[in-house]
Amino acid sequence: MRATDLIIKKRDGLSMTAEEIRWLVDGYTRGEIPDYQMAAWAMAVLLNGMDDAETTELTLASAESGELLDLSSAVPFAVDKHSTGGVGDKVTLAAEPIVSACGLPVGKMSGRGLGFSGGTLDKMESIPGFRTDLTTRAFLDQLARLGLVLAGQTADLAPFDGKLYALRDVTGTVPSIPLIAASVMSKKIAAGAQAIVLDVKVGLGAFMPTLEQASALARQMTAIGHRSGRRTTALISDMNQPLGCAVGNALEVREAIQTLRGGGPADFREHCLEVAAHMLVLGEKYPSLPLARAAAETAVSSGRAFEKFRALVEAQGGDPACVDDPSRLPAAPVIETAIAPRAGWLGRVHAGEVGQTSVELGAGRARKGDPINPAVGIEVHHKVGDRVEEGTLLFTIHAADADACAVAKARLLGAVTLSDEPVEPLPLFYEVIAAAE
Ligand code: URA
Repeated sequence: MRATDLIIKKRDGLSMTAEEIRWLVDGYTRGEIPDYQMAAWAMAVLLNGMDDAETTELTLASAESGELLDLSSAVPFAVDKHSTGGVGDKVTLAAEPIVSACGLPVGKMSGRGLGFSGGTLDKMESIPGFRTDLTTRAFLDQLARLGLVLAGQTADLAPFDGKLYALRDVTGTVPSIPLIAASVMSKKIAAGAQAIVLDVKVGLGAFMPTLEQASALARQMTAIGHRSGRRTTALISDMNQPLGCAVGNALEVREAIQTLRGGGPADFREHCLEVAAHMLVLGEKYPSLPLARAAAETAVSSGRAFEKFRALVEAQGGDPACVDDPSRLPAAPVIETAIAPRAGWLGRVHAGEVGQTSVELGAGRARKGDPINPAVGIEVHHKVGDRVEEGTLLFTIHAADADACAVAKARLLGAVTLSDEPVEPLPLFYEVIAAAE
Protein backbone atom coordinates (compact mmCIF):
# COMPACT_ATOMS: atom_id res chain seq x y z
CA MET A 1 0.00 0.00 0.00
CA ARG A 2 1.16 3.58 -0.64
CA ALA A 3 0.07 6.69 1.25
CA THR A 4 -0.03 8.59 -2.07
CA ASP A 5 -2.77 6.26 -3.39
CA LEU A 6 -4.86 6.76 -0.25
CA ILE A 7 -4.54 10.55 -0.52
CA ILE A 8 -5.66 10.34 -4.16
CA LYS A 9 -8.60 8.13 -3.18
CA LYS A 10 -9.86 10.74 -0.69
CA ARG A 11 -9.06 13.59 -3.10
CA ASP A 12 -11.33 11.91 -5.66
CA GLY A 13 -14.14 11.40 -3.14
CA LEU A 14 -13.82 7.60 -2.89
CA SER A 15 -14.20 5.52 0.28
CA MET A 16 -11.27 3.81 1.96
CA THR A 17 -11.48 0.18 3.07
CA ALA A 18 -11.06 -0.80 6.74
CA GLU A 19 -7.68 -2.32 5.86
CA GLU A 20 -6.50 0.91 4.23
CA ILE A 21 -7.56 2.97 7.24
CA ARG A 22 -5.76 0.64 9.66
CA TRP A 23 -2.62 0.79 7.50
CA LEU A 24 -2.66 4.61 7.46
CA VAL A 25 -3.24 4.89 11.22
CA ASP A 26 -0.52 2.36 12.08
CA GLY A 27 1.97 3.91 9.66
CA TYR A 28 1.44 7.45 10.94
CA THR A 29 1.54 6.39 14.61
CA ARG A 30 4.86 4.58 14.02
CA GLY A 31 6.32 7.59 12.18
CA GLU A 32 6.54 5.76 8.84
CA ILE A 33 4.15 8.14 7.07
CA PRO A 34 5.41 11.75 7.09
CA ASP A 35 3.42 14.76 8.28
CA TYR A 36 3.13 16.24 4.76
CA GLN A 37 1.28 13.18 3.44
CA MET A 38 -0.96 13.00 6.49
CA ALA A 39 -1.72 16.73 6.13
CA ALA A 40 -2.71 16.25 2.48
CA TRP A 41 -4.93 13.32 3.48
CA ALA A 42 -6.59 15.35 6.28
CA MET A 43 -7.29 18.20 3.84
CA ALA A 44 -8.84 15.76 1.34
CA VAL A 45 -11.06 14.40 4.16
CA LEU A 46 -12.00 17.94 5.22
CA LEU A 47 -13.08 18.76 1.67
CA ASN A 48 -14.72 15.46 0.67
CA GLY A 49 -15.81 13.90 3.99
CA MET A 50 -15.86 10.26 5.08
CA ASP A 51 -18.78 7.85 5.25
CA ASP A 52 -20.01 6.29 8.53
CA ALA A 53 -18.09 3.04 8.07
CA GLU A 54 -14.83 4.94 7.42
CA THR A 55 -15.37 7.23 10.41
CA THR A 56 -16.07 4.30 12.75
CA GLU A 57 -12.99 2.42 11.51
CA LEU A 58 -10.81 5.52 11.92
CA THR A 59 -12.12 5.94 15.48
CA LEU A 60 -11.45 2.33 16.48
CA ALA A 61 -8.02 2.24 14.82
CA SER A 62 -7.10 5.49 16.58
CA ALA A 63 -8.33 4.17 19.96
CA GLU A 64 -6.35 0.96 19.41
CA SER A 65 -3.17 2.86 18.43
CA GLY A 66 -2.31 2.90 22.16
CA GLU A 67 -3.41 1.57 25.54
CA LEU A 68 -7.08 0.63 26.00
CA LEU A 69 -8.04 1.26 29.63
CA ASP A 70 -10.22 -1.31 31.33
CA LEU A 71 -11.99 0.47 34.18
CA SER A 72 -13.90 -2.67 35.15
CA SER A 73 -10.90 -3.75 37.24
CA ALA A 74 -11.64 -0.73 39.50
CA VAL A 75 -15.43 -0.23 39.32
CA PRO A 76 -18.28 -2.20 37.76
CA PHE A 77 -19.54 0.74 35.67
CA ALA A 78 -18.09 4.19 34.99
CA VAL A 79 -19.53 7.17 33.16
CA ASP A 80 -17.64 9.97 31.41
CA LYS A 81 -18.52 13.30 29.84
CA HIS A 82 -16.92 15.32 27.10
CA SER A 83 -17.49 18.84 25.91
CA THR A 84 -16.47 19.91 22.42
CA GLY A 85 -15.12 23.07 24.06
CA GLY A 86 -16.55 26.41 25.02
CA VAL A 87 -15.96 29.70 26.78
CA GLY A 88 -16.58 29.59 30.53
CA ASP A 89 -17.29 25.85 30.23
CA LYS A 90 -16.34 24.56 33.66
CA VAL A 91 -19.19 22.01 33.73
CA THR A 92 -16.87 19.05 34.41
CA LEU A 93 -15.71 20.65 37.67
CA ALA A 94 -19.21 20.70 39.12
CA ALA A 95 -21.15 17.98 37.25
CA GLU A 96 -18.66 15.19 37.93
CA PRO A 97 -18.58 15.57 41.73
CA ILE A 98 -22.40 15.72 41.66
CA VAL A 99 -22.61 12.43 39.73
CA SER A 100 -19.97 10.77 41.90
CA ALA A 101 -21.78 11.94 45.05
CA CYS A 102 -24.88 10.14 43.70
CA GLY A 103 -22.89 6.88 43.74
CA LEU A 104 -21.91 6.60 40.06
CA PRO A 105 -18.10 6.50 39.55
CA VAL A 106 -16.62 9.07 37.18
CA GLY A 107 -13.15 8.58 35.74
CA LYS A 108 -12.14 11.32 33.36
CA MET A 109 -9.03 11.99 31.36
CA SER A 110 -9.05 15.57 30.12
CA GLY A 111 -7.09 17.72 27.74
CA ARG A 112 -5.59 21.16 28.06
CA GLY A 113 -7.20 24.25 26.66
CA LEU A 114 -6.24 25.32 23.17
CA GLY A 115 -7.36 28.50 21.40
CA PHE A 116 -10.20 30.27 23.12
CA SER A 117 -11.75 27.23 24.77
CA GLY A 118 -10.34 26.46 28.19
CA GLY A 119 -9.22 23.04 29.38
CA THR A 120 -10.23 21.25 32.56
CA LEU A 121 -6.61 20.44 33.49
CA ASP A 122 -5.54 24.08 33.34
CA LYS A 123 -8.49 25.08 35.50
CA MET A 124 -7.84 22.43 38.16
CA GLU A 125 -4.11 23.24 38.20
CA SER A 126 -4.92 26.75 39.41
CA ILE A 127 -5.46 25.01 42.78
CA PRO A 128 -1.94 25.01 44.31
CA GLY A 129 -0.46 21.50 44.39
CA PHE A 130 -3.18 19.81 42.28
CA ARG A 131 -1.58 17.07 40.17
CA THR A 132 -3.04 15.76 36.93
CA ASP A 133 -0.16 13.51 35.78
CA LEU A 134 -1.46 10.29 37.35
CA THR A 135 -0.18 6.88 36.30
CA THR A 136 -2.78 4.39 35.07
CA ARG A 137 -2.38 2.49 38.36
CA ALA A 138 -2.97 5.64 40.45
CA PHE A 139 -5.96 6.56 38.23
CA LEU A 140 -7.59 3.15 38.78
CA ASP A 141 -6.83 3.12 42.53
CA GLN A 142 -8.41 6.54 43.04
CA LEU A 143 -11.41 5.59 40.91
CA ALA A 144 -11.98 2.51 43.11
CA ARG A 145 -11.38 4.40 46.38
CA LEU A 146 -13.11 7.72 45.75
CA GLY A 147 -15.29 7.15 42.67
CA LEU A 148 -13.88 10.33 41.12
CA VAL A 149 -10.68 11.11 39.18
CA LEU A 150 -9.78 14.06 36.97
CA ALA A 151 -6.47 13.38 35.30
CA GLY A 152 -4.51 14.30 32.20
CA GLN A 153 -4.50 12.05 29.21
CA THR A 154 -1.46 9.76 29.20
CA ALA A 155 0.72 9.71 26.08
CA ASP A 156 -0.33 6.11 25.59
CA LEU A 157 -3.99 6.97 25.12
CA ALA A 158 -4.90 7.20 21.39
CA PRO A 159 -1.39 8.40 20.38
CA PHE A 160 -2.48 8.56 16.72
CA ASP A 161 -5.01 11.23 17.66
CA GLY A 162 -2.41 13.20 19.64
CA LYS A 163 -0.20 13.39 16.53
CA LEU A 164 -2.98 14.02 14.05
CA TYR A 165 -4.66 16.70 16.20
CA ALA A 166 -1.37 18.67 16.46
CA LEU A 167 -1.02 18.45 12.67
CA ARG A 168 -4.63 19.48 12.01
CA ASP A 169 -4.18 22.43 14.33
CA VAL A 170 -1.53 23.93 12.01
CA THR A 171 -2.95 22.87 8.64
CA GLY A 172 -6.48 24.30 8.78
CA THR A 173 -8.04 20.84 9.08
CA VAL A 174 -9.67 20.96 12.52
CA PRO A 175 -13.28 21.75 11.45
CA SER A 176 -14.07 18.44 9.74
CA ILE A 177 -17.04 16.63 11.24
CA PRO A 178 -15.70 13.07 10.70
CA LEU A 179 -12.22 14.03 11.95
CA ILE A 180 -13.61 15.70 15.09
CA ALA A 181 -15.99 12.78 15.74
CA ALA A 182 -13.17 10.23 15.38
CA SER A 183 -10.81 12.33 17.50
CA VAL A 184 -13.21 12.77 20.41
CA MET A 185 -14.64 9.25 20.37
CA SER A 186 -11.26 7.49 20.00
CA LYS A 187 -10.08 9.13 23.25
CA LYS A 188 -13.35 8.35 25.03
CA ILE A 189 -13.29 4.70 23.91
CA ALA A 190 -9.62 4.30 24.90
CA ALA A 191 -10.34 5.87 28.32
CA GLY A 192 -12.65 2.98 29.13
CA ALA A 193 -15.97 4.42 30.42
CA GLN A 194 -18.98 2.34 29.43
CA ALA A 195 -21.28 5.39 29.14
CA ILE A 196 -20.49 8.81 27.68
CA VAL A 197 -22.45 12.08 27.75
CA LEU A 198 -21.32 14.46 25.02
CA ASP A 199 -21.89 18.19 25.38
CA VAL A 200 -21.76 19.51 21.81
CA LYS A 201 -21.46 23.29 21.72
CA VAL A 202 -22.94 25.43 18.97
CA GLY A 203 -22.57 29.12 18.18
CA LEU A 204 -20.16 32.04 18.09
CA GLY A 205 -17.72 30.49 20.57
CA ALA A 206 -17.81 26.88 19.31
CA PHE A 207 -16.17 24.74 16.63
CA MET A 208 -19.62 24.23 15.15
CA PRO A 209 -21.21 27.58 14.22
CA THR A 210 -24.61 26.23 13.11
CA LEU A 211 -27.19 23.93 14.67
CA GLU A 212 -27.16 21.81 11.52
CA GLN A 213 -23.40 21.16 11.83
CA ALA A 214 -23.57 20.56 15.59
CA SER A 215 -26.41 18.12 15.10
CA ALA A 216 -24.49 16.25 12.36
CA LEU A 217 -21.43 15.99 14.66
CA ALA A 218 -23.57 14.83 17.60
CA ARG A 219 -25.27 12.18 15.45
CA GLN A 220 -21.94 10.86 14.15
CA MET A 221 -20.50 10.62 17.66
CA THR A 222 -23.52 8.90 19.20
CA ALA A 223 -23.59 6.43 16.28
CA ILE A 224 -19.89 5.63 16.76
CA GLY A 225 -20.44 5.22 20.51
CA HIS A 226 -23.30 2.84 19.88
CA ARG A 227 -21.39 0.80 17.27
CA SER A 228 -18.51 0.40 19.70
CA GLY A 229 -20.75 -0.76 22.54
CA ARG A 230 -20.80 2.44 24.62
CA ARG A 231 -24.02 4.03 25.79
CA THR A 232 -23.84 7.54 24.38
CA THR A 233 -26.08 10.60 24.64
CA ALA A 234 -25.32 13.98 23.11
CA LEU A 235 -26.71 17.32 24.30
CA ILE A 236 -26.48 20.25 21.92
CA SER A 237 -25.96 23.38 23.96
CA ASP A 238 -25.60 27.08 23.32
CA MET A 239 -22.18 28.68 23.01
CA ASN A 240 -23.12 32.04 21.52
CA GLN A 241 -22.47 33.67 24.90
CA PRO A 242 -20.12 32.45 27.68
CA LEU A 243 -21.49 29.84 30.07
CA GLY A 244 -21.91 31.17 33.60
CA CYS A 245 -20.07 34.30 34.63
CA ALA A 246 -16.38 33.34 35.03
CA VAL A 247 -13.91 32.93 32.14
CA GLY A 248 -10.35 32.17 33.25
CA ASN A 249 -8.85 29.37 35.29
CA ALA A 250 -8.93 30.29 39.00
CA LEU A 251 -12.09 32.36 38.44
CA GLU A 252 -13.80 29.30 36.96
CA VAL A 253 -12.71 27.06 39.85
CA ARG A 254 -14.18 29.63 42.25
CA GLU A 255 -17.47 29.63 40.33
CA ALA A 256 -17.62 25.82 40.29
CA ILE A 257 -17.09 25.79 44.08
CA GLN A 258 -19.83 28.39 44.58
CA THR A 259 -22.14 26.23 42.47
CA LEU A 260 -21.31 23.08 44.42
CA ARG A 261 -22.20 25.03 47.55
CA GLY A 262 -25.65 25.77 46.13
CA GLY A 263 -24.96 29.22 44.65
CA GLY A 264 -23.34 30.18 41.35
CA PRO A 265 -24.91 31.70 38.21
CA ALA A 266 -28.34 30.30 37.34
CA ASP A 267 -27.45 29.23 33.77
CA PHE A 268 -24.31 27.40 34.87
CA ARG A 269 -26.06 25.66 37.76
CA GLU A 270 -28.89 24.54 35.47
CA HIS A 271 -26.45 23.29 32.84
CA CYS A 272 -24.49 21.22 35.39
CA LEU A 273 -27.62 19.65 36.90
CA GLU A 274 -28.94 18.71 33.46
CA VAL A 275 -25.64 17.15 32.34
CA ALA A 276 -25.36 15.32 35.67
CA ALA A 277 -28.94 14.00 35.30
CA HIS A 278 -28.18 12.61 31.82
CA MET A 279 -25.01 10.94 33.16
CA LEU A 280 -27.00 9.35 35.99
CA VAL A 281 -29.66 8.00 33.62
CA LEU A 282 -27.10 6.70 31.12
CA GLY A 283 -25.25 4.99 33.97
CA GLU A 284 -28.58 3.39 35.01
CA LYS A 285 -28.38 4.91 38.47
CA TYR A 286 -31.89 6.35 37.98
CA PRO A 287 -34.62 5.21 35.60
CA SER A 288 -35.76 8.69 34.49
CA LEU A 289 -34.44 12.20 34.03
CA PRO A 290 -36.74 13.79 36.67
CA LEU A 291 -35.57 11.28 39.32
CA ALA A 292 -31.93 11.75 38.34
CA ARG A 293 -32.35 15.51 38.38
CA ALA A 294 -33.85 15.42 41.88
CA ALA A 295 -30.94 13.26 43.09
CA ALA A 296 -28.44 15.69 41.56
CA GLU A 297 -30.13 18.62 43.32
CA THR A 298 -30.04 16.77 46.64
CA ALA A 299 -26.34 15.95 46.16
CA VAL A 300 -25.73 19.72 46.00
CA SER A 301 -28.12 20.85 48.76
CA SER A 302 -26.86 18.19 51.19
CA GLY A 303 -23.23 19.32 50.70
CA ARG A 304 -22.20 15.83 49.47
CA ALA A 305 -21.17 17.09 46.01
CA PHE A 306 -19.01 19.81 47.55
CA GLU A 307 -17.39 17.26 49.88
CA LYS A 308 -16.66 15.02 46.87
CA PHE A 309 -14.91 17.89 45.09
CA ARG A 310 -12.89 18.66 48.22
CA ALA A 311 -11.90 14.99 48.54
CA LEU A 312 -10.88 14.96 44.85
CA VAL A 313 -8.64 17.99 45.36
CA GLU A 314 -7.06 16.44 48.43
CA ALA A 315 -6.55 13.05 46.74
CA GLN A 316 -4.64 14.67 43.89
CA GLY A 317 -2.37 16.79 46.11
CA GLY A 318 -4.28 20.09 45.90
CA ASP A 319 -4.62 22.49 48.82
CA PRO A 320 -8.09 21.91 50.35
CA ALA A 321 -7.84 25.30 52.12
CA CYS A 322 -8.39 26.89 48.66
CA VAL A 323 -11.61 24.90 48.28
CA ASP A 324 -12.83 25.98 51.72
CA ASP A 325 -11.81 29.58 51.02
CA PRO A 326 -11.53 30.31 47.26
CA SER A 327 -10.13 33.80 48.01
CA ARG A 328 -6.85 31.89 48.54
CA LEU A 329 -6.74 30.92 44.84
CA PRO A 330 -4.32 32.89 42.62
CA ALA A 331 -5.52 36.50 42.17
CA ALA A 332 -4.59 39.06 39.51
CA PRO A 333 -2.88 42.34 40.51
CA VAL A 334 -5.11 44.56 38.34
CA ILE A 335 -8.90 44.31 38.62
CA GLU A 336 -11.07 46.78 36.70
CA THR A 337 -14.64 47.05 35.49
CA ALA A 338 -16.29 47.82 32.15
CA ILE A 339 -19.73 49.44 32.19
CA ALA A 340 -22.57 49.80 29.67
CA PRO A 341 -22.09 52.96 27.57
CA ARG A 342 -25.90 53.38 27.26
CA ALA A 343 -29.20 51.76 28.19
CA GLY A 344 -30.72 48.89 26.19
CA TRP A 345 -31.27 45.16 25.98
CA LEU A 346 -28.23 42.94 25.50
CA GLY A 347 -28.45 41.51 21.98
CA ARG A 348 -25.08 39.79 21.89
CA VAL A 349 -22.25 38.86 24.24
CA HIS A 350 -19.94 37.28 21.64
CA ALA A 351 -18.51 34.12 23.24
CA GLY A 352 -15.64 33.84 20.76
CA GLU A 353 -14.56 37.45 21.39
CA VAL A 354 -14.76 37.03 25.18
CA GLY A 355 -12.74 33.81 24.85
CA GLN A 356 -10.08 35.45 22.65
CA THR A 357 -9.84 38.34 25.10
CA SER A 358 -9.21 35.90 27.95
CA VAL A 359 -6.44 34.26 25.87
CA GLU A 360 -4.86 37.71 25.27
CA LEU A 361 -5.00 38.33 29.02
CA GLY A 362 -2.99 35.11 29.47
CA ALA A 363 -5.74 32.71 30.61
CA GLY A 364 -5.38 30.46 27.54
CA ARG A 365 -2.72 29.49 25.07
CA ALA A 366 -2.44 30.43 21.42
CA ARG A 367 -0.05 27.52 20.79
CA LYS A 368 0.39 24.12 22.41
CA GLY A 369 2.88 24.34 25.29
CA ASP A 370 2.48 28.09 25.90
CA PRO A 371 2.39 28.97 29.62
CA ILE A 372 -0.86 30.25 31.10
CA ASN A 373 -1.61 32.63 33.96
CA PRO A 374 -4.12 31.00 36.37
CA ALA A 375 -5.14 34.30 37.96
CA VAL A 376 -6.31 36.34 34.96
CA GLY A 377 -9.69 36.33 33.24
CA ILE A 378 -13.07 37.98 32.92
CA GLU A 379 -16.32 38.01 34.85
CA VAL A 380 -19.32 38.47 32.54
CA HIS A 381 -22.14 39.98 34.58
CA HIS A 382 -25.07 39.90 32.12
CA LYS A 383 -26.74 37.58 29.66
CA VAL A 384 -28.32 38.12 26.25
CA GLY A 385 -31.84 39.47 26.82
CA ASP A 386 -30.97 41.35 30.04
CA ARG A 387 -32.03 44.98 30.30
CA VAL A 388 -29.12 47.23 31.29
CA GLU A 389 -28.97 50.96 32.08
CA GLU A 390 -26.17 53.36 31.26
CA GLY A 391 -23.37 52.59 33.77
CA THR A 392 -24.52 49.02 34.57
CA LEU A 393 -21.55 46.74 35.29
CA LEU A 394 -20.95 44.50 32.26
CA PHE A 395 -17.51 42.96 32.87
CA THR A 396 -14.87 42.70 35.60
CA ILE A 397 -11.41 42.26 34.11
CA HIS A 398 -8.64 40.48 36.03
CA ALA A 399 -5.31 41.33 34.37
CA ALA A 400 -1.57 41.00 34.88
CA ASP A 401 -0.99 44.72 34.20
CA ALA A 402 -2.80 47.96 33.34
CA ASP A 403 -1.97 47.85 29.60
CA ALA A 404 -3.39 44.35 29.15
CA CYS A 405 -6.45 45.47 31.09
CA ALA A 406 -7.07 48.49 28.82
CA VAL A 407 -6.79 46.36 25.65
CA ALA A 408 -9.18 43.77 27.10
CA LYS A 409 -11.71 46.42 28.11
CA ALA A 410 -11.91 47.86 24.59
CA ARG A 411 -12.27 44.42 23.03
CA LEU A 412 -14.94 43.31 25.50
CA LEU A 413 -17.06 46.41 24.94
CA GLY A 414 -16.82 45.65 21.20
CA ALA A 415 -18.09 42.11 21.87
CA VAL A 416 -21.41 43.41 23.18
CA THR A 417 -24.34 44.82 21.23
CA LEU A 418 -27.20 46.78 22.81
CA SER A 419 -30.64 46.82 21.26
CA ASP A 420 -33.45 49.36 21.67
CA GLU A 421 -36.00 46.53 21.48
CA PRO A 422 -36.39 43.68 23.99
CA VAL A 423 -34.31 40.61 23.06
CA GLU A 424 -35.24 36.96 23.72
CA PRO A 425 -32.84 35.18 26.13
CA LEU A 426 -30.83 32.36 24.53
CA PRO A 427 -31.77 28.76 25.36
CA LEU A 428 -29.29 26.60 27.27
CA PHE A 429 -29.95 23.44 25.22
CA TYR A 430 -31.28 22.94 21.69
CA GLU A 431 -31.51 19.17 21.32
CA VAL A 432 -30.83 15.83 23.00
CA ILE A 433 -29.64 13.01 20.77
CA ALA A 434 -29.62 9.49 22.14
CA ALA A 435 -27.87 6.66 20.30
CA ALA A 436 -30.14 4.65 18.02
CA GLU A 437 -30.78 1.16 19.39
N1 URA B 1 -11.71 18.16 20.40
C1 URA B 1 -11.02 17.02 20.13
O1 URA B 1 -10.68 16.27 21.02
N2 URA B 1 -10.75 16.74 18.85
C2 URA B 1 -11.10 17.53 17.82
O2 URA B 1 -10.83 17.19 16.68
C3 URA B 1 -11.80 18.72 18.11
C4 URA B 1 -12.11 19.01 19.43
